[in-house]
Amino acid sequence: MTSGWTIGVIGGSGLYAIDALEDQRWIDVDTPWGRPSDQLLTGRIGDVRFVFLPRHGRGHRIPPGELNARANIYALKAAGCTDVVAISAVGSLREELPPGHFVVVDQFIDRTVARPASFFGTGLVAHVSLADPTCERLSALCADAAQAAGADAARGGTYLAMEGPQFSSRAESLLFRQWGADVIGMTAMPEARLAREAELPYALVGMVTDYDCWRSANEKVEVADVIARLGANADLGRRLVVELARSLPAERTPSPVDTVLDFALITAPDARD
Ligand code: ADE
Repeated sequence: MTSGWTIGVIGGSGLYAIDALEDQRWIDVDTPWGRPSDQLLTGRIGDVRFVFLPRHGRGHRIPPGELNARANIYALKAAGCTDVVAISAVGSLREELPPGHFVVVDQFIDRTVARPASFFGTGLVAHVSLADPTCERLSALCADAAQAAGADAARGGTYLAMEGPQFSSRAESLLFRQWGADVIGMTAMPEARLAREAELPYALVGMVTDYDCWRSANEKVEVADVIARLGANADLGRRLVVELARSLPAERTPSPVDTVLDFALITAPDARD
């Protein structure tokens, strides 16, 4: 018996496998957009299928600006995922979101500049809505699962996606706070856009690793601090996945995101290649 859910999990920095999966198998997937970051790890927890992809590849080989997000999302879709949960290390832009906290993001400000951000283009033009870029149902399930796993989890928050790979200047960090951003990272865009175009409901769980550099004149982010936090956060991230499997409704009912392309294609049917 399957539940109708196949959850794609994109694991960020520090999260390169999920031990709790039963019937584990690493599979190769090629896509019209090239290779995803790594093989996909398929398995199940109870009767929920999971497909796990380490976003930076095992061993953290691929920097944010070189991720092939189109191949990653396409591969998860091709592997049968119905929904995608992305787990990412983030910097905090708010005092009340200290390192160790989780934030289930619901909005994005995209400041990435050099990444292919659509499956569509000349020949087939589409405009999907990103007014609500994350899936409310999946996000609520993730926030509950994070809490059940023992994490302090905030519901809702705005993620500022920066190009990197350098961290922000202090002036940028202060500006992003004025814009209303709560957390900052380098990877969720264009991933979230592409998930929407692929009709995959998407939730993003940010695991706070640092306070970025806005709090005082001599504060700065260093990779060592980020790495030090990642181990503990990644354990909680893995537990979150187990709790999510336990708490999913027995049957998956349709999401509005499953059919967004029905309302997004603007190229006339007789002009489509
Ligand atoms: N990932 C983790 N911490 C970050 C920060 N401060 N800025 C951008 N990406 C991050």
